Amino acid sequence: MKTAETYQQKIKLTADYLNASNNVLFITGAGISAESGLPTYRGIGGLYNDDLTEDNMPIEEALSGYMMSLKPDITWKYISKIEEACRGASYNRAHAIIAEMEPHFERLFVLTQNVDGFHNDAGSVNVIDIHGNIRDLQCTNCFFRLTVADYSELSMPPKCPDCSSVLRPDVVLFGEFLQPEKTSALYTELEKGFDVVFSIGTSSVFPYISGPVLEASKMGIPTIEINPADSEISSMVTVKFSEKAGTVMEDIWQAVKKD
Ligand code: OAD
Repeated sequence: MKTAETYQQKIKLTADYLNASNNVLFITGAGISAESGLPTYRGIGGLYNDDLTEDNMPIEEALSGYMMSLKPDITWKYISKIEEACRGASYNRAHAIIAEMEPHFERLFVLTQNVDGFHNDAGSVNVIDIHGNIRDLQCTNCFFRLTVADYSELSMPPKCPDCSSVLRPDVVLFGEFLQPEKTSALYTELEKGFDVVFSIGTSSVFPYISGPVLEASKMGIPTIEINPADSEISSMVTVKFSEKAGTVMEDIWQAVKKD
């Protein structure tokens, strides 16, 4: 496999990989939305850096499926903080470029852990939002579902208009399983294979996020990481960019010449 040392060489090499690819996978995490003003989960300014929440429990407990069933007002309080950060914010150039790229390839997929919905907002169609979308609500008791623009109009915790049970966001909370439709969609696409795999703005702590990059790497498929910090996968990727997602994606897209 070719090597690249300077930033420009890495851009050229990544563009060459994309020009030679029909099937492209982008794996994204909180870092791709950092330039939209959203906090990340870990690292500087991350949501999970304080030891305990003001309710005297770790944030992982406050945002757990168990707490949602026991004390939904607590889970709603912290989910609302995440939603508040998304409110008024919008997708950025990195999301937009991935959306612009999609029709230029035979098959381009986004696997995102983000619940902000920005990939869809930017126009990406093939999106597997493996942790759900914070704007989608569902009843904890019946089949009622609702999509909201934001949480400002909701009474907390919001109740189902049909059965008066508590509503919850359709997101994966701590201690919960991934939704089977989402994992099945992911594994179907992974089985079809990809020619190049990108990892953007994620600490890659979950195996279903690091796995596709590590598998591709083992098979000699080019892998690209865009992250100012090092992550679980950094030592394994073909090309590592330590610059921000927006800048790198802009430069890659300029260098790619797809019809
Ligand atoms: P993390 O907060 O763990 O990691 C964000 C990554 O983005 C870090 O590695 C940063 O270095 C990087 N980063 C920051 N700014 C960036 C920029 N401008 N460009 C590129 N990268 C940048 O977020 P995730 O990996 O997404 O799950 O976290 C995964 C999951 O942990 C979340 O989906 C959430 C949380 O628990 C659930 O809620 C189930």
